[in-house]
Amino acid sequence: MILEIVQYGHPVLRERCKPVGVVDDSLRQLVGDMLETMNDANGVGLAAPQVGVALRLAVVDVSHDPECISFLKVGGQDAPLASIMPLVFINPELEFVGPKERDTEGCLSIRDLRADVSRPSVIKARLPQLDGTVLEIETDGLLARAIQHETDHLNGVLYIDRVSPAAKISLRRQLRRLAAEQ
Ligand code: NI
Repeated sequence: MILEIVQYGHPVLRERCKPVGVVDDSLRQLVGDMLETMNDANGVGLAAPQVGVALRLAVVDVSHDPECISFLKVGGQDAPLASIMPLVFINPELEFVGPKERDTEGCLSIRDLRADVSRPSVIKARLPQLDGTVLEIETDGLLARAIQHETDHLNGVLYIDRVSPAAKISLRRQLRRLAAEQ
């Protein structure tokens, strides 16, 4: 089922989400719906608060572009990107490794806006899975960026909070309009 994506100005986007405890059928259903919703919206990631659920859960899929990373290690071993796509994770723990890199981001909860965001270029991530296993990965490129962007959502942080002060000024009017539409 395609879910409604909540938009900028909605308070759930500013919540610090609760850890996922028990993984039950309703959570698995939610994950299936989030994947469907992300695909329908042509997004590369979606976090639970974006569909109104304040839980530490997100989905990412960057498989449309196998060249969007320069490496991926799963459990310390080189692995193909497709082997972990689509990526579903709960209660993520991130470690930032590489120097910061600037690239353009958008968000399904902030319609029609894009801006440059500087983020660490390489991450190590501990990503608990629905089946109780833990996926340990190291990667860069769009995958590292998307995991950071979605993990930010779980802490009530949006990419617009991370743009340069100058870019923030030019975004301010558009953001005010979006918030007023809510
Ligand atoms: Ni987003």
